[in-house]
Amino acid sequence: MRVDVFTQIPHAFAWLTEQKPLASVLGTELELRLFNYRDTTPLRSGQIDDEPYGGGAGMVLRVDVVAAALDAVYGRRSEHRIVALTPQGAQLDQALVEELVAEPALTLLSSRFEGLDERIVRHLSTDAISIGPYVLSGGELPAMVLLDAIARRLPGALAEGSCEHESFSEALDGGLEYPQYTRPPEFRGWTVPDVLLSGNHALIEDWRRAQSRVRSAS
Ligand SMILES: C[S@@+](CC[C@H](N)C(=O)[O-])C[C@H]1O[C@@H](n2cnc3c(N)ncnc32)[C@H](O)[C@@H]1O
Repeated sequence: MRVDVFTQIPHAFAWLTEQKPLASVLGTELELRLFNYRDTTPLRSGQIDDEPYGGGAGMVLRVDVVAAALDAVYGRRSEHRIVALTPQGAQLDQALVEELVAEPALTLLSSRFEGLDERIVRHLSTDAISIGPYVLSGGELPAMVLLDAIARRLPGALAEGSCEHESFSEALDGGLEYPQYTRPPEFRGWTVPDVLLSGNHALIEDWRRAQSRVRSAS
């Protein structure tokens, strides 16, 4: 899968690319390309945004700047999904992540300050996605959230089977994961449920499914 991120701050992604699971699939299952709007802006002095028509605070990412950036990489036509990252978009969930992972290529458009000119969302993007009902200062963190969620679903990103029984997985009927415990079996009087120490795998499986159902219902 190829993911292209358009951003004002490409170096912000350096940390993520060094972390597993993304680092495990970079260069094999995942090709990540970072583009800076400033490199292709048709405006002078690297300008990419402007004051909002109608007045108001903040600067808005210009549609001609984003169009020039997309044209420089894809020409006038691109066949794949182009996602505008905005708090006003469809909210990201695991089902949407699974849908996006199935794509051969994806473009993420991030912005800062007051946001994107609406024409970027309407005419240059196929999707608008929000990572949650809150406002961040820029689209870099949302792009990284999406990248991480995608990367961990690619082959080779995680140890075999380690995301099969995760929260929102099919194996748990889309519900939440059961409680996990590790050593020591008792700490400050807080004990691990006996069933997990029993060695009885059928019982453990039943207990975990029941716990998952309880958590998911509340
Ligand atoms: C300060 S926000 C703009 C918020 C916009 N003025 C509004 O009220 O909806 C600047 C940029 O950060 C990114 N952003 C902030 N919060 C986001 C979220 N929850 N999901 C996706 N992108 C977000 C978007 O790229 C957005 O254009």
